[in-house]
Amino acid sequence: MLTKQNISFPNFLEDEFTYEWHMSRNERYAFIKLLEKTRPKVAIEIGCFKGGSLEILSKFSEKVYSIDIDPKVKENLHEKFDNVDIRIGPSSELIPKILKEIDKKGEVLEFVLIDGEHTVNGVKNDITHFLNYIPKRNVHIVFHDSFNPLCRKGIKKANYNSSPYVHYVELDFISGVFNPGKLYRQMWGGLALVLLKPEKRRGSIKINECQKKIFNTVYWKSIHPLRDRLIFLKPLVKKLIK
Ligand SMILES: C[S@@+](CC[C@H](N)C(=O)[O-])C[C@H]1O[C@@H](n2cnc3c(N)ncnc32)[C@H](O)[C@@H]1O
Repeated sequence: MLTKQNISFPNFLEDEFTYEWHMSRNERYAFIKLLEKTRPKVAIEIGCFKGGSLEILSKFSEKVYSIDIDPKVKENLHEKFDNVDIRIGPSSELIPKILKEIDKKGEVLEFVLIDGEHTVNGVKNDITHFLNYIPKRNVHIVFHDSFNPLCRKGIKKANYNSSPYVHYVELDFISGVFNPGKLYRQMWGGLALVLLKPEKRRGSIKINECQKKIFNTVYWKSIHPLRDRLIFLKPLVKKLIK
């Protein structure tokens, strides 16, 4: 959800990774490093769009399942990556199926990017599928747009204590951006990180927000306190404009 402007360019990676990628410069560096370190056997991506993050996932993973609700994604990216299986449909339907398939085939999930439906319930439902999953190895789950108040609320709403395999939750693994491009006084970007381990946790899990003060300070200068309360009017406004 970031516009293509100075928050990501230059990053000195332009020649290597050429697909349109909706992440800021610092997010790109962190995302690449995390994948370079973890080198997942299997990764899942929710929200493929133009293939930017998928290009990185494909480079560092043995196999990637990439999900998007928009059929155009498959038309545009079909056969562009040898190790990628693109599935079209809502993540709410596809994720449970893919997780079952992974277990049935004896594959090992080690990485997830959640960057699909940017609503409170969309984000919460996406992570909840993985809280019901029994990890075979460490699974790094990265959310994009944890700095956006609605996405952040969705990430926070999930019941991490329901899974004994959650060992770490940090909403501000990488901080987000304010006022990017034409998104006037909006808060976007940021990477959250959840770590699942195959062994069970002792005690309850804490949701870390190491940059909570930045989030709160920017929030009250942003458009979100007003906009997010009126979001239920959006369909009505759209109808009136038509
Ligand atoms: C912000 S873009 C993803 C950007 C991409 N990860 C990147 O870094 O360049 C979000 C994508 O999620 C898809 N999407 C939205 N809701 C979805 C859902 N419920 N299930 C699957 N995909 C969804 C949209 O069609 C869109 O392509």
